[in-house]
Amino acid sequence: MPHTPSEDTATDRTALVVVAHPRPDSLTAHIARLTTRRLTGAGYRIDLLDLAADGFDPRMTEADLPDWNNREKTYSPEVESHMRRVLAADVIVAVFPVYWMHAPAILKGWIDRVWNYGFAYGRSKPRLAGKRMLWLGLAGAADDDELVGIMQQSLSAQLDDGIAYYCGMAHSSVGLLAGAEEKPQRVDAEGNLRLDEALTGATRDAHYAALEAKATGFVDDFVAGDRVAA
Ligand SMILES: Cc1cc2nc3c(=O)[nH]c(=O)nc-3n(C[C@H](O)[C@H](O)[C@H](O)COP(=O)(O)O)c2cc1C
Repeated sequence: MPHTPSEDTATDRTALVVVAHPRPDSLTAHIARLTTRRLTGAGYRIDLLDLAADGFDPRMTEADLPDWNNREKTYSPEVESHMRRVLAADVIVAVFPVYWMHAPAILKGWIDRVWNYGFAYGRSKPRLAGKRMLWLGLAGAADDDELVGIMQQSLSAQLDDGIAYYCGMAHSSVGLLAGAEEKPQRVDAEGNLRLDEALTGATRDAHYAALEAKATGFVDDFVAGDRVAA
């Protein structure tokens, strides 16, 4: 039975929603707004972090490199302020386009700089312990492209195991939204990228409605899991 967040909105929890796309009219930004509405409806306070709009620089700086001899290091003021936002969040939802089967550079750089030594890892009790994470990745590959299964495994290994669980988070999952392009992409047996015919009319509407429903399902399942754990 689908979960209906409006039934009980008694949470007193904060969700940090991290958006990693340069265009506010992108499908990624649209799914981020849908996610935010869903979380708000379920009673979360929202802290919206739009990395591109904020001009976040993903490049590592000397000030933000770990000092392996000092886990109490004070990092740059920008990074320290991001750390406070991460600490204040009970759950974190990142919404991003999949680039080369990875998180895009701006999101990866946010993790590199902010989820730093002595803060996110390197302590017997990690500061992120108990937090819950959802990674919502949009991908241009067609839903039935065989690469999608590999992409799911690869993203889960990088993001769930390599980052969230390494930092002691209580739960992490990757919601992969394939078929994000109007011309679904697939790689043929010879390794050539093939673009399908552009979706139009009712087929297009149904396609994006299904993608939205899938995104909503990921968010609702995540919220339901948070309720059980809280
Ligand atoms: C640099 C770059 C790399 C990409 N790599 C992948 C990829 O590895 N797999 C995939 O399915 N789609 C890939 N895509 C397609 C994007 O995932 C797709 O364009 C995006 O999710 C569509 O959402 P948007 O309209 O919000 O940008 C890539 C796109 C770009 C620009």
